Amino acid sequence: MRVQVAIIGSGPAGLLLGQLLHRAGIDAVILERQSREHVLGRVRAGVLEQVTVDLLDRAGVGERMHREGLIHDGIDIHFGGARHRIDFRRLTGKGVTVYGQTEITRDLMNARAAAGLATVYEAADVAIHDFDTDHPRVTYRKDGVSETIACDVIAGCDGYHGVCRASVPAAAVSTAERIYPFGWLGVLSDTPPVSPELIYNRHERGFALCSMRSRTRSRYYVQCSLDDSAERWSDEMFWDELRRRLDAKAAETLVTGPSIEKSIAQLRSFVAEPMRFGRLFLAGDAAHIVPPTGAKGLNLAASDVSVLAEALIAFFAGDAHGVDTYSARCLRRVWRAVRFSWWMTGLLHRFPDADAFAHKVQTAELDYLVGSEAAMTALAENYVGLAL
Ligand code: APR
Ligand code: PHB
Repeated sequence: MRVQVAIIGSGPAGLLLGQLLHRAGIDAVILERQSREHVLGRVRAGVLEQVTVDLLDRAGVGERMHREGLIHDGIDIHFGGARHRIDFRRLTGKGVTVYGQTEITRDLMNARAAAGLATVYEAADVAIHDFDTDHPRVTYRKDGVSETIACDVIAGCDGYHGVCRASVPAAAVSTAERIYPFGWLGVLSDTPPVSPELIYNRHERGFALCSMRSRTRSRYYVQCSLDDSAERWSDEMFWDELRRRLDAKAAETLVTGPSIEKSIAQLRSFVAEPMRFGRLFLAGDAAHIVPPTGAKGLNLAASDVSVLAEALIAFFAGDAHGVDTYSARCLRRVWRAVRFSWWMTGLLHRFPDADAFAHKVQTAELDYLVGSEAAMTALAENYVGLAL
């Protein structure tokens, strides 16, 4: 098989790239290790910057997002028993759209299937070769048969644990990482959200987040220890702990119900540089991971793909400037989003080794934030994606 672009990974990064290249007449195949159902079964976040919404529209997959997505003009931050609203619309003129990553993945998969574009699910033993030459190849096994794809470019959209970054010689890639000493226990429930907008809670028992997928489906998180397990938490234990970390009004109005998904996510900041190795281009979680506190993971993957699609379209038209500057352009935005996500995480979580001084400083920073137009504007600009 021969294609212009071999895309490894059928997450939001790989699917969105495939869609943007298809609309520009560039042929690409997607290889995915898991089944379609497995990929769709993952529960991930879903807060979109306007630039991501615009990109999904440009890719022709925005219709359901506009119909079912929720426009939010701000968030609440609760600490010390009081809630403080950060009014994005007033401070930046922009808002965000709440629309689950699973739904975006479904819309992209449906668009790809409708266009009859090739995706190989359950592709085993994917391996990439010769990406330091002008004739890269990808090999894999499907139903026990070995296959080879000849291509011009390989797009590594295979996430943090993927084969693409792992195939780069260690000396050619540098990494920077921060692993946080806690996790997020998340619950999805078909209950009405406790508040029309997200509430970020900083509490002495630990962080908590009130989010949603729709007006009838809620997503909640509580900070937990790294050695915890989701099985240890009954639904009742989860709701009790969440309620303890909310302000009085939210605790009173919280509607509980059976969890339809419950899992723990570790929090990590990670960046691999550069993001290009010859004819191999990394995008999304394959190159960087952010803790979910800043709601940047999906938006960063989308912005990488936006730059990469534009660069590849120019490359196949004979102009290599875009591919030559791809890594530098993306990393500038990546590090800004990494900083914001690290800052939000430090601001709102309880660190196991925090002493009274650290706790007081964190409180003082929150107090300064909600009392300063400039500080609230800085948070808002980063959250809506303006300052990245
Ligand atoms: N061969 C083929 N496919 C692979 C391989 C492999 N060796 N390794 C991983 N994959 C697939 C995974 O199964 C997954 O479906 O690559 C896909 C990577 O998708 P994601 O992990 O969703 O990464 P990305 O598309 O970059 O999306 C980033 O996901 O984790 C969130 O917060 C993050 O929102 C961000 C988004
Ligand atoms: C979510 O809805 O899952 C979500 C929202 C905002 C975050 C993280 C997760 O910062």
